[in-house]
Parts: sequence; C-alpha cells; structure tokens
Amino acid sequence: MKKIVIASIAALTVTSSLMAGVNAAACTGCHGADWSKKAMNKSAAVSEMSHADIATALKGYKAGTRNVHGMGALMKGQVAKYSDADLEAFAQTIGK
Ligand code: HEC
Repeated sequence: MKKIVIASIAALTVTSSLMAGVNAAACTGCHGADWSKKAMNKSAAVSEMSHADIATALKGYKAGTRNVHGMGALMKGQVAKYSDADLEAFAQTIGK
C-alpha cells in the first residue's frame, strides 16, 4: 500500500511538470468557458481582447503593476506561479 501511494505521488509530480503552462480550468469559473464573461462583473471580456493585450495584462498582473478595475491583486494571485513565457504562450490561445 505504502509503495502504491509513493508511486502515485511520483506519477503525479511527473505529470504536472510535463503539463507546464497555464491551467485554463482555473480561470474560466470567473471568465466564462468562452472567456466572454466580465469576471466578477469587473473585468473586460477577455474574448474581446487581442492576444498582445492579454499577454501584457497577464504579465502586468504577475508583476503587480496592473490594476484596471481594483482587482489586480486578485489576478496577481491567479498568475503569479506562471513564467512570463507560459503567460505569453497562453495569451496566444485565447482572445482574438
Ligand atoms: C476569482 C475570479 C478570477 C479568476 C479565477 C481569474 N480571474 Fe482574471 N480577472 C478577474 C478580475 C476581477 C479581473 C479584473 C482585474 C483588474 O482590476 O484589473 C480580471 C482580469 C483579467 C484579465 C484582463 C481583463 C481586463 O479587464 O483588463 C485577463 C486577461 C485575465 N483576467 C485572465 C485570467 C486568467 C488567464 C486566469 C487564470 C490563470 C484568470 N484570469 C483567473 C477575475 C478572475
């Protein structure tokens, strides 16, 4: 049993390091599955933003320099763990 638990933890660790990149499922609860929801009635609809604007926004939240609607600290918490490269790459996959 102990061996199975240890093996599972090892497998999980490998899986999450292979799945580098932004976990969109952690975002869409607030932003909507199609990114068109104004998160918490505050944010812009991310689906209407350009890839470049999204990249700038995400890196700004991470750096703590962006706070458009007074909720920048909340968004910082959402993206702080990702690298700028991950945020850039993810921004290319959402918006327009
Ligand atoms: C708990 C709700 C919540 C979660 C979860 C969340 N966001 Fe946000 N998001 C917000 C709010 C509120 C704002 C507005 C922040 C501000 O004041 O600038 C925002 C702003 C944004 C913006 C900029 C929109 C604008 O108005 O300029 C982008 C892009 C964004 N979020 C992407 C993400 C991504 C990517 C994730 C997941 C890693 C995520 N969000 C997770 C609530 C959330």
